[in-house]
Amino acid sequence: MKISTKNSLLFNLTSILLIISCMFITTPPKTSAKASTKTPDHDLPQYFSSSSPLNTIIKFNNHSSSSPQNKYLLPTFGTDCSVWSRACSEEILKIATKPENVKWIKSLRRKIHENPELAFEEHDTSKLIRKELDELEVSYRFPLAKTGIRAVIGTGQPPFVAIRADMDALPIQEAVEWEHKSRNAGKMHACGHDAHVAMLVGAARILKARQRHLKGTVILLFQPAEEAGNGAKRMIGDGALEDVEAIFAMHITHLLPTSVIGSRSGPLLAGCGFFKAVITGGQGRDAVLAASAAVISLQGIVSRESNPLDSQVVSVTFLNSGDDLDVIPNRVEFGGTLRAFSNTNFHQLLKRIEEVIVAQAKVYQCWGTVDFFRNADTMYPPMVNDNNMYEHMKKSTVDLVGPTNFQVVQPVMGAEDFSFYSEVIPAAFFYIGIKNETLGSVHSPHSPHFMIDEDALPVGAATHAAIAERYLHDRDISIS
Ligand SMILES: *[C@@H]1O[C@H](CO)[C@@H](O)[C@H](O)[C@H]1NC(C)=O
Ligand SMILES: *[C@@H]1O[C@H](CO)[C@@H](O)[C@H](O)[C@H]1NC(C)=O
Ligand SMILES: [Zn+2]
Ligand SMILES: [Zn+2]
Repeated sequence: MKISTKNSLLFNLTSILLIISCMFITTPPKTSAKASTKTPDHDLPQYFSSSSPLNTIIKFNNHSSSSPQNKYLLPTFGTDCSVWSRACSEEILKIATKPENVKWIKSLRRKIHENPELAFEEHDTSKLIRKELDELEVSYRFPLAKTGIRAVIGTGQPPFVAIRADMDALPIQEAVEWEHKSRNAGKMHACGHDAHVAMLVGAARILKARQRHLKGTVILLFQPAEEAGNGAKRMIGDGALEDVEAIFAMHITHLLPTSVIGSRSGPLLAGCGFFKAVITGGQGRDAVLAASAAVISLQGIVSRESNPLDSQVVSVTFLNSGDDLDVIPNRVEFGGTLRAFSNTNFHQLLKRIEEVIVAQAKVYQCWGTVDFFRNADTMYPPMVNDNNMYEHMKKSTVDLVGPTNFQVVQPVMGAEDFSFYSEVIPAAFFYIGIKNETLGSVHSPHSPHFMIDEDALPVGAATHAAIAERYLHDRDISIS
């Protein structure tokens, strides 16, 4: 998630703070040249000759095998879950919290934490995940979006439900001194994506153990480049959502105590975008005056046109007309950022920003154009939870961790590229708490002091597994 070091980016903060966060969290496009998110190809293991989607490998692990030599398969318990009961949730949690499983999931997360990799460079992380999937005898497709993985557990038949984790780290130097501190200078898992990966592999382990209960197929998506580069968009382009009818994702948060789950129906995270305007005048026409009028009018969009109860931001953050003190310039450039919590408002903002700038330029007989960098991977739609998926997620979670460990949370001005999946199919995004004052895991994501209470990991894995298994179960009941 793209959120700031400010630890309370809640709904009602001033736009000034929100702007700081927006600039911090996403990489804004360069005002002059198109932002490039391309990274050089890394060396891949020999058996993957190229990272091109044309060379995607599909690894079939033997589904029918329940061979005792697979030491990674955990024993299941007795409950027949053809009708869902609390006992089914309890069994999922029991598998997740078995001491050897807790030890394993923590050690997996620490391995990933020690070796953080930036967007589209998650080669070792991806390889480690595939090794774990191989040991679990889980089939998968690789690569999607360069380093991404699409793993499959279940019958191979519809319905298909997806759960997703992001794999990338941040260009931050870790300031936490501990045994498993980042070994890569200037890189850190400061947003908890190491934990997200471990919890999703943990879910694979639980789901594999409960394979006979699955009434359909669970797709596990390991996605690159959440922080920069819109990995989600590329995953979708490479077929991540093929056959999938619903998707869920989890993010750690320091705002909730360890293992407490939080979410809400409807808007959860803001849509975020950037714009750059160019106003040209010449021949006695004053582009500076036109630009000034346009900047003032832009303020009116949020203060006068939008619902004050529905947070939106439009801010101009740069303005440039050269440095000549003697001559009225022909050309003025300015630009800034926008945020909104619903798709309607987000698209309305885009439309109004363009209209206002073009029209104000015209008032002064100038010419105005606006660029929203639509292709530069810097625009994120809002994350709006589908109500049915939210209700399913809440029901599954409350059954698993108890009603006191579920909280309805407020929307946050951060952005998440999970919203791209939610534009395609019904989706729900939720949080898991990692705050523990005794441990000191109280810092916000993207802080060099960020750390987590690892006791949340098994609960997170169980939550993923319960949501997916129960989705297939309930879907089955609703058909028949
Ligand atoms: C899968 O394993 C089963 C049992 O070990 C074996 O009979 C079957 O031939 C295997 N299938 C494949 C495709 O390897
Ligand atoms: C916080 O962490 C400490 C040390 O691991 C642990 O003893 C305690 O139970 C944790 N507290 C909560 C609320 O999880
Ligand atoms: Zn982040
Ligand atoms: Zn994140």
